[in-house]
Amino acid sequence: MIAPVSEDRLALISQSHARQMSLCDDLEVIADGLPSNVNLQLCLHLARAVCPTVAAAHEVEERVLFPAVKTLSTTLPDIDSMIERLRWEHFEDMCFAEELHDALLAIGRGEPTMTPEAAGYMLRGFFESVRRHVAFEREMLSPLMELALRKAEAGRLSRTAS
Ligand SMILES: [Fe+2]
Repeated sequence: MIAPVSEDRLALISQSHARQMSLCDDLEVIADGLPSNVNLQLCLHLARAVCPTVAAAHEVEERVLFPAVKTLSTTLPDIDSMIERLRWEHFEDMCFAEELHDALLAIGRGEPTMTPEAAGYMLRGFFESVRRHVAFEREMLSPLMELALRKAEAGRLSRTAS
């Protein structure tokens, strides 16, 4: 019999990834609308949302996802360096999100500080990077987290039975 897995932790990570992908979709709408078909209210909304959304996602991933996966590092030695790389990507994306906040605020106020081409390049650079990062975590880390949680619960059950 397969041991029950902590669904709440898996759901937290799944929701975190979904929120980041939704943010990317909204940013793509802005990028596609440049220079003249931009929803200024959406720009202002995204300016307010981008840093908190990214920060909250990183917090939950670093608190829940990475430690769970790290427990597999005795059998998968590359896990540690993989997690370090993902942490670095979080840091880079957060720096990028802060720049995006300023750019979106300026566009939303009708006072852009950069050319539409530069703004589009910045937006696409951000959401393409976040999409790649999330896809990797979804395809590689989430299954590893589920495996780690199942192993931990199976260990607990066997200790309880003995
Ligand atoms: Fe992440």
